[in-house]
Amino acid sequence: MSDNWKQATKMVHGGIRRSQYNEVSEAIFLTQGFVYDTAEQAEARFIESGPDEFIYARYGNPTVAMFEDRIAALEGAEDAFATASGMAAVNGALSSMLKAGDHVVSAKALFGSCLYILENVLSGFGVEVTFVDGTDLDQWRAAMRPNTKAVFFESMSNPTLEVIDIAAVAEIAHSVGATVIVDNVFSTPVFSDAIAQGADVVIYSATKHIDGQGRALGGVVLGTKDFIRGTVEPYMKHTGGSLSPFNAWVLLKGLETIALRVNAQADSALKIAKALEGHVGLARMLYPGLPGHAQNALVQRQLGGKGGTVLSLDLKGGKEAAFRFLNALSIAVISNNVGDAKSIVTHPATTTHQRLPDDQKQALGITPGLVRFSVGLEDADDLISDLKRALEVAQS
Ligand SMILES: Cc1ncc(COP(=O)(O)O)c(C=O)c1O
Repeated sequence: MSDNWKQATKMVHGGIRRSQYNEVSEAIFLTQGFVYDTAEQAEARFIESGPDEFIYARYGNPTVAMFEDRIAALEGAEDAFATASGMAAVNGALSSMLKAGDHVVSAKALFGSCLYILENVLSGFGVEVTFVDGTDLDQWRAAMRPNTKAVFFESMSNPTLEVIDIAAVAEIAHSVGATVIVDNVFSTPVFSDAIAQGADVVIYSATKHIDGQGRALGGVVLGTKDFIRGTVEPYMKHTGGSLSPFNAWVLLKGLETIALRVNAQADSALKIAKALEGHVGLARMLYPGLPGHAQNALVQRQLGGKGGTVLSLDLKGGKEAAFRFLNALSIAVISNNVGDAKSIVTHPATTTHQRLPDDQKQALGITPGLVRFSVGLEDADDLISDLKRALEVAQS
């Protein structure tokens, strides 16, 4: 692969390893282990294995390595470690680098399972976490301490789509030597250039846009070679959160089409947001790609102008109206993933963010009327007609 290749070329050819059969499509090495020619070779490989010398699928696998190299090329990262899910990636990045006595600063607008790791898992191991409003740089500044080892945030939060300024937070974090860990799921690897903007470590749930067709769970941690191979890999390979070769193959094929898919989805999301703006049934509409949105300037700078593939609608009439709306939609399916070819509608307060106490939901803007809409690859005009019809039903 040439470093000069543009993104689209890297997505199709990056990381490829061909077997002796010279196959066109990447091979699935569906094997738990690898055979050594001699006992001496086995011993040598356990002492140190090269990039194409494999031992056991929990440690690494050729199909998984292809996925890691391809996503690292897309992200502009030195290296990547693929994980069994997005949460294995979040946990692996944080738990591998932190120890008792360390301090973490995190944005408080987080996906429920990310919040569980920061609130429950880390505290159990003696790591203190301070939560801040991620959009308020003064709060980030005030929270830093000499023992702050990491900052963590979702660059676009789930489900209220708050965009956090990666470059500004990185400058604050780096002033105390903290590692900047960004969950970049909603920004997608296509729109975001998180590493170039100052992130040290980037995480994806590959279950979302990278697969993009609802087939496989997966995740990935990206960063420097030292961090990935020296810190993350030993933790992951011994604690067991590695990606399966079959899922790696699904995700590799997903990367071939990701740019086409997320660009089409973001274009449709903008079209839908414009069509629903000011709708009488809506108390709020959250889509940072909309020119009037308070964070649109940041979206222009950080995401190349694209507002992402998800929009959130806050319906007048609370939970009852939201449920009527979900039940009335005929194209989008009621589920809880994002980034899929099929539009997916979610009621976060009763599903993905159910475990948050009511006051915390309120503080994060996860109101009873809030509905998250992940825009799929259907015709945007069909989606708009369906959404408008369901909004009418919701008001009735
Ligand atoms: C922002 C964010 N991070 C992490 C995850 C976890 O990903 P996975 O479900 O692949 O473990 C999700 C899943 O919804 C998410 O939305």
